[in-house]
Amino acid sequence: MSADHATFSAASGASFPAQGRRALAVVLAAGEGTRMLSRLPKILHRIANRPIVSHVLDSVRAAGVESVAVVVGPGREDVAAEVRSTAPGATIHIQQERLGTAHAALAARAALEAGADDVIIAFGDTPLVEPQTFDRLRAVLTKGASVVVLGFEAKDPTGYGRLLIEDGELVAIREHRDASEAERAIRLCNGGIMAIAGAHALPLLEKIDNANAKGEYYLTDVVAHARAAGLHAKALVAGEEELLGINDRAQLAAAEAVIQNRLRLAAFRAGVTLVAPETVFFSWDTALGRDVVVEPHVVFGPGVTVEEGAVVHAFSHLAGAVVRSGADVGPFARLRPGADVGTGAHVGNFVEIKNAKLGEGVKAGHLSYLGDAEIGAGTNIGAGTITCNYDGYSKHRTLIGSGAFIGSNSSLVAPVSIGDGAYTGSGSVVTRDVPADALALGRAQQVVKEGWAARLREFRAAVKTGKS
Ligand code: UD1
Ligand code: CA
Repeated sequence: MSADHATFSAASGASFPAQGRRALAVVLAAGEGTRMLSRLPKILHRIANRPIVSHVLDSVRAAGVESVAVVVGPGREDVAAEVRSTAPGATIHIQQERLGTAHAALAARAALEAGADDVIIAFGDTPLVEPQTFDRLRAVLTKGASVVVLGFEAKDPTGYGRLLIEDGELVAIREHRDASEAERAIRLCNGGIMAIAGAHALPLLEKIDNANAKGEYYLTDVVAHARAAGLHAKALVAGEEELLGINDRAQLAAAEAVIQNRLRLAAFRAGVTLVAPETVFFSWDTALGRDVVVEPHVVFGPGVTVEEGAVVHAFSHLAGAVVRSGADVGPFARLRPGADVGTGAHVGNFVEIKNAKLGEGVKAGHLSYLGDAEIGAGTNIGAGTITCNYDGYSKHRTLIGSGAFIGSNSSLVAPVSIGDGAYTGSGSVVTRDVPADALALGRAQQVVKEGWAARLREFRAAVKTGKS
């Protein structure tokens, strides 16, 4: 992709200086998430068409973290496969029993023993943390803190751990269930993400027990243990939006809304016009060039590139497609995977394109299905043209040369090829190859009967008035 085409996924931001220190991120992803009411583990649900956990892995990578360890539940081959494809260098650790967040972190013991200057603990269900925020956490470690916890001011703090601050030091985190009335009044909450100085990470985690209301090993107890060991702990405040954890479908939708807004802002920063941004939906990897215009109510599935100056008209749906510079598609266009709309080409309303390459300046203005096809430069595709690509068993290709003219309502029965500069007559069913510059007619010959309609009317009128 040329430099003109900014990919603006949330996860592709700048990578930040690692401050000369090596970091390990432990991503806790062993939670099933019963409140999703789903067969799918919650971290494989998607926002901006990317699994929740993959957003976390992308963000950690963009923050310049060298080593990543992911803790998954037993038998979760689906989660492990997703992790391997998003972060091939990550190690995968199994938490055999779900005994709490500290227990989960210790499942990555091998990674912790390998050592790092900074250990980041991130939650697989908290996908909106930006790379800069991981960097800010680490920066606090370099200033002498041994534990840094990311907090936020919650509108409704119910259910969250509370951050207990005294004289600028974080002294403890109290889980909601274990908190006193006075502590429950605190609105500064634990976002769940923390950084621990590498030398202290394993010894502190090993001190944690399960003597609390839930009988779980709480990662949050790391703060009290650090304090008891005479170490410094600090809280760093981030926006509530960034720390949104996904436990149910409503939070999934809330996270989607946040990420869509980020992607829209990134589009503006890449020089894209969105006429009604709140009606346009992107995927994490949508790539748009400068001066692209996207009209209202457009949905971008995964894998779409729209090059400089192209226009996507209203109510179009694109996935796995390329729209080359200066082309325009829609309104009501559907571009499916493998659609490649050439430079300056025009794809109009109710045109569906799948696995088909349209050359420069091709025009397909109305009501067509173009699948498994290759169409040369400057060819005109008449309204209602269909490539009949499927015979019930296999898909076949249609090859159309350049400068050809496909008459309206042609059915091109693949495999078939139409040469450069050839014509097909309107309404033709084309089953045999057409040489260059030929005309193919595949329709019934027209018959004209002079005076026939007038005679019919005369006869029918006579029958009706009983005068026949
Ligand atoms: C946790 C924090 C709480 C904080 C909140 C923020 C603890 C003890 N509590 O609570 O202070 O306010 O997050 O959202 O850390 N996980 C495992 N294995 C386990 C338990 C959890 O992998 O045995 C993973 C989950 O998949 C999830 C993350 O750890 O990604 C957090 O677990 P969850 O049960 O959601 O913690 P909360 O109760 O939300
Ligand atoms: Ca949670």
